[in-house]
Parts: sequence; structure tokens; C-alpha cells
Amino acid sequence: MCGIVAAVTTGGNVIPDVLHGLRTLEYRGYDSAGIAAPAEDSLHLRRQVGKISALEQELANNALPDTPTAVAHTRWATHGPPATRNAHPHMDDEKKIVLVHNGIIENYAELRADLQERGHQFFSDTDTEVLVNLIAWHQKNGKEELHDAVRAALKEVHGAYAIVVLSAKTPDLLIVARMDSPLVVGLSEEGSFAASDMPALLHLTRDFLVLENGETAVLRPKNVELFNAEGVRIERTAIRCDWTPEQAEKGGYPHFMLKEIEEQPDVLARTAFDRCHDLTGDVHFEKEFGFTDATIQSIQRIRFMAMGTSLHSALLGQQMVAELSAVPGETLNASEFLYSPNLEEGQTLTVILSQSGETADSLRAMREVQKRGGQVLGICNVMGSTLAREADHLILTHCGPEVGVASTKAFFGQLTALYLLAIRFGRAREKLSKEQGQELIHDLRALRPKLDVLFSSEAAERIQKAADFLAQVSSCLFLGRGFHFPLALEGALKLKEISYIHAEGYPAGEMKHGPIALISEDFPVVAIATPGRTYEKMISNMEEVRARAGKVVAIGVAGDQRIANQADYFLAVPEVPELLSPLVNIIPLQQLAYQVALKLGRDIDQPRNLAKSVTVE
Ligand code: F6R
Repeated sequence: MCGIVAAVTTGGNVIPDVLHGLRTLEYRGYDSAGIAAPAEDSLHLRRQVGKISALEQELANNALPDTPTAVAHTRWATHGPPATRNAHPHMDDEKKIVLVHNGIIENYAELRADLQERGHQFFSDTDTEVLVNLIAWHQKNGKEELHDAVRAALKEVHGAYAIVVLSAKTPDLLIVARMDSPLVVGLSEEGSFAASDMPALLHLTRDFLVLENGETAVLRPKNVELFNAEGVRIERTAIRCDWTPEQAEKGGYPHFMLKEIEEQPDVLARTAFDRCHDLTGDVHFEKEFGFTDATIQSIQRIRFMAMGTSLHSALLGQQMVAELSAVPGETLNASEFLYSPNLEEGQTLTVILSQSGETADSLRAMREVQKRGGQVLGICNVMGSTLAREADHLILTHCGPEVGVASTKAFFGQLTALYLLAIRFGRAREKLSKEQGQELIHDLRALRPKLDVLFSSEAAERIQKAADFLAQVSSCLFLGRGFHFPLALEGALKLKEISYIHAEGYPAGEMKHGPIALISEDFPVVAIATPGRTYEKMISNMEEVRARAGKVVAIGVAGDQRIANQADYFLAVPEVPELLSPLVNIIPLQQLAYQVALKLGRDIDQPRNLAKSVTVE
């Protein structure tokens, strides 16, 4: 939600680099964008409604002077509609200080009223403009140093923020601060940088300092000083990011989503293969995992929590871990956990899944568990993210940066990590023998080459036909049972979020309890019907749909005539062990959503109203 990029460098013109970073962050918000730069004791501002291309056009028509310092922002509206006056950066009413902000200032209305009484004027509907005026007020009232003024203003603020502040008086200095919104500081010989996430700065550096809540930093071209919440100078070693700049680029693909769907076989290898030990039939996670066999044995229950797509992998994780290690579990929507009764945590382990590691609802749930005395295992794709830092135990999925708003490879990486977790728990709790562990690892390694067929031209043709059909309907149902029920939820979510076609996922057994009333010639079903314990019942469900003139798009294994006979559109997948079938079946569901959205001309990587990283509750 909102993306920030800022730079203070040793010389030259930093605007192209800042815009490059901003484009990488466009997934975080795309209703307006802006950039500010200092020049000759004043501040210059360019802002535009729409995507970053609109800002670039504005800069082409109305260039900023070359500058070694700049702050920029891409917005996802919270306070006030998308409009130039609401776009960031925001300046104080004397146009001396400029600020970009991600988050929500909860007490902005009171602060605004106070400042108005003191004579400040406001030109936008935003909470951000209140903060920059408050900083300006403090600077004029005893806190002459910009850092002091920022710290004084932040003491009055309740809410979440990541901010970068620049003053016309000190053009070679940026002040940054964070509270519950992500912010990283990048370090290089050429300058100091700040951004909402690491991919935005990978073209400039791979060395980062991650700010903790309450901390501030003073950025100068040649050095960065970090301060704790009390204003005391602290030292921190930089971390080196192992992502490459190319991973954050489209690399010739028309959309990030397509690139990320096609990267999934590599995600499997990166997330799993080095951790799998064929000889012992076990999985070895890095030291951040932090469990011994004894601690795993002491766990009595696992609670999985997440939001959106990550919640769907949580549902699958619960089933996988129960299957291989017999630990009972439950899955909760993280935003609902706060309202659950405060029962004793006992030997309950909470697993929180998040691609970004910055989802506000999931972080809130993590902190609530920790407050109640429980332990949290985070499964996360972003090193240095809040979940990665604050969880008691950690497994990183090695998907590389996910840029498309619709999550694809991160879901796949999470399922892979959950499969590994299930093996580790099964082995530690002696529910799996060495030989069984070896077989599960062998199946996982054998999966990678089997995935190739899903990217063949024949598979693409089948998907295209089904997509041409689905693009004509206004509503549809996704059905699955057992391991495939969470996939039905995920298939429906993918379709609705990028094509805007209404879709719901249901456990197929539920169909006759209500949704069947919807089935008609114009209301199709997507059925996930690969072999396993739910196979026969899925066939009956498909027959019931067809008996009511409903059309069926079915996912079944190649050559399965029984499924093909029940399907108007048959999407063939390779046969794999049932436990691994979600990693196969998800791919045609993603491809289907992509092709439907493409056919309908939707904005696939940046669907309307959505932001990739939902950092507000
Ligand atoms: C859907 C999607 C969202 C996210 C959700 C949680 O395609 O991407 O539903 O899965 O916002 O995000 P993370 O995994 O970053 O916590």
C-alpha cells in the first residue's frame, strides 16, 4: 500500500534511478504518483493522477532540474480520492519541507484541527499533509534540526507510517522513520537510499539496513546514522539481499504474472532441493527454523493463519502436516484471530504464512499470539521483512521477488515449504520412517520435470479454449474436495481478482446444500478432479452439474477418459502422488485466470482497487 523511493547521492542526476525504483513498486499502489527534488533553497514537485507512466509523461513535458536528491511515491488511496492534490509528496504550507508517507495517521483529524488553529493551511484530504505541517511547526518552535523536528512530530502521532522527509534548507539530508509500515535503507558508495522494499533498490545496491518500529535514520550521501525510539544512536550490520535486479524485471514477458507462473518449477528447486536429504529421508532447514526433534515432539496442536492466497496455502498446510505427522491443526483468517477467546496457548504452535511478511492483519495476529505466550513460525518470502524478523521461528520460501499483484509463485513456494515442514514434523515425531521420508523426497524431486508439460503448446491451447468460454460468463463456481478444496478457493480468487468475473470456491460436498441452485447453462463449474480419495465423489458432482445443463471445465490427469467424458473443457495435468497434486493443479488454474483476464483486456498485474502488500488492517 503506497510505495516510497528516495535517494541522496554524491552527485549527478538521480531522477531516472528513483523512477526506476518507483516502477518496481507500482504494485503497491497505482492511483497517483509524484516526485520532489530540492533546487536553490526551494522544493520542486511533480504529481500526476494515474500510473507512473503519467508522472513520466508529466516530467517529459515539465522537467525537474537535475538533482542528486529526490523523494518519490506511488499511492494507494486511503484518505481522499485519487487526485493531484492528494498525491504524494506533500509539502508544508510554506513549501519548505516535503514528505512521502505509507500508512495511516489515525489521529490526523485532531492534529489537523490543532494546526489549523495555529494558522496552518491545508490543500489536500490526506493525513500526510498534517504530518508534514506538524514537522514544520516543530522546526519553527524549538526543534531547528530536521531530525529533531521529525522525532517531536512523530511523538504526537498514532498510527502506522513509513516516511521520508526532505527540507529545502538541507538538500543533502533525508530523514526516514517507520512504525508498522515497511521501510528499508540501501547503502552504496554512490549514495544512501530508502524504499518500501528491497526490489525497488536492487539496481542501486544489494546492501540494506532494515528499520525497526520506532527507529529513525539520517541519510547523507556518504553515511547513514540510525537512532532508536529514544533518539540514541545505534549500530546495525547491513544485510545482503540475494535477489538479483533481473528477478524484479519483466524480462520480455508481457506481464509479471505470466513470468511468475512460469518460474514455478524453479521455485520448487530453490525452495526445496537443498533442504532435502536423500540419505536420511529428512529435511534440514536453516538455523532460523530453530526447532529440535524434542521441541517438535512437544507440540500438541498447530494453528495456521494468513490472509488471501496465503490463507489458502495455510489450509493446505494444515492438511499436509496432519497427514504426515498426525499433529491436529486448525486454520484461521488472521484478521479474525483478534476476536477469538484468549484461551491458554499451551503447546500450540502458530504458523503464519505471508509472501510479503508485511501484511498488517497477519502481523497483528502474530503479535497477539506472542502476547498470549505462544510461539510463531513464520513462512515468508521476504528476508528482512517484519514477519521474518519478529517470528520466533522462520522458513524462507525462495521464490524471488513477486511483483504481479495476483500471487502465484509465492503460493507455490509456500506449498513447497509446507510439504517440507510436514516431512520434518513427520520424521521428528516418528510418524514417518526413513524410507517413507526418502520416498516423499524422491516424489518431490521427480515433480520438477513433470511440470514441463503444463507449459507446452498443447496445454496452452486447452487453456485458451476454456478461457475463451469462461470470459463470456459473469459468474462461476470452483469445486474441489480434500486437498483440492483450498485450490478451489484459490482458483476462484485468482479469477475474480484479475478478470473481475464473480467466482466462488466451495468444497464440492457443499454444492447440493445451496450453490446448486445457481447452476444453469450460463453458470459453469470448474472442477478439480485428479485421482485420490475424493475422485469418485468429484465425478458424481460433475454429473450433477451436467444434469442441470451446467458446463464443466475439469482438471484431470492426462488420458483420464472418465473425467474427459464429464467435461466440456478438459485441462490435462500429469499424474503425481495425491499429496503433491495441489502443486500441479494450481498451475492450470492460474493460467486459466490469466488467459481470461487477457481476453477481457484487464490490467493483469495491477487489477483495480488492489495493492500487493496490504499494510493496513
Ligand atoms: C491474492 C493475493 C492476496 C495476498 C494477501 C496476503 O492474489 O496476493 O490475497 O495473498 O494479501 O499477502 P501476503 O502473502 O503478502 O501476506
